[in-house]
Amino acid sequence: MKQSHSLRNVFLVGLSVAGLTLTACGGAEGPPKPPPPAPPEYADKHMPPDHWGNPDIIAEGQAIYTGQQNIDVNCASCHGKNGKPVKAGARDFRQTEHMKLYSDSQWFWRVSEGVKGTKMKAWKSKLSEDEIWKVIAFEATFGLEGQEYDVAKKQWVPLGTAGAAGAATEEAPAAEAPTEEAPAE
Ligand code: HEC
Repeated sequence: MKQSHSLRNVFLVGLSVAGLTLTACGGAEGPPKPPPPAPPEYADKHMPPDHWGNPDIIAEGQAIYTGQQNIDVNCASCHGKNGKPVKAGARDFRQTEHMKLYSDSQWFWRVSEGVKGTKMKAWKSKLSEDEIWKVIAFEATFGLEGQEYDVAKKQWVPLGTAGAAGAATEEAPAAEAPTEEAPAE
């Protein structure tokens, strides 16, 4: 038992060396690189309020991701049910260090338009914008559980704290109370 363990370790070290060598030739793993900036038409798209970490949204996102909602949209067939890729080259959503280099807009852009020259297709013809946000909210639970993207700070922050400091007043939600009636004169 003991011996087969250490043999396995030698094997694993060998594998990671091979992995590093492959990275040099453009393999999928390796030190995370930030994705290119989202094109202008996507730069201002952001996760709708109350989506991050919302169990209902995440459940809907999961149904999309696993092909339960539409068999033609089955992210899990490449990215794996639990975010561990089952097809070579598919992004590993469990890699927190990599996934947090993406903004919400960049995720949205990539899911909408796909990644040219890879198996990652454009999904915008099969999914509505809202569905794409739901699937992203689900995807984020693999590597970024308990976090949400803070648009003002341009970084991932603990759930419920986005916009907490500084920019908090910028987008105050419309007051609930019926303040003004139609102007009289
Ligand atoms: C046929 C296999 C396949 C399917 C199905 C698939 N993907 Fe991908 N996906 C990939 C591959 C391959 C990459 C890596 C592209 C690259 O090298 O940048 C990727 C990358 C991504 C990325 C990261 C984009 C980037 O910059 O690398 C996201 C986000 C993503 N996929 C989401 C999804 C979602 C959501 C679905 C379902 C709607 C989905 N994928 C379905 C293969 C797939």
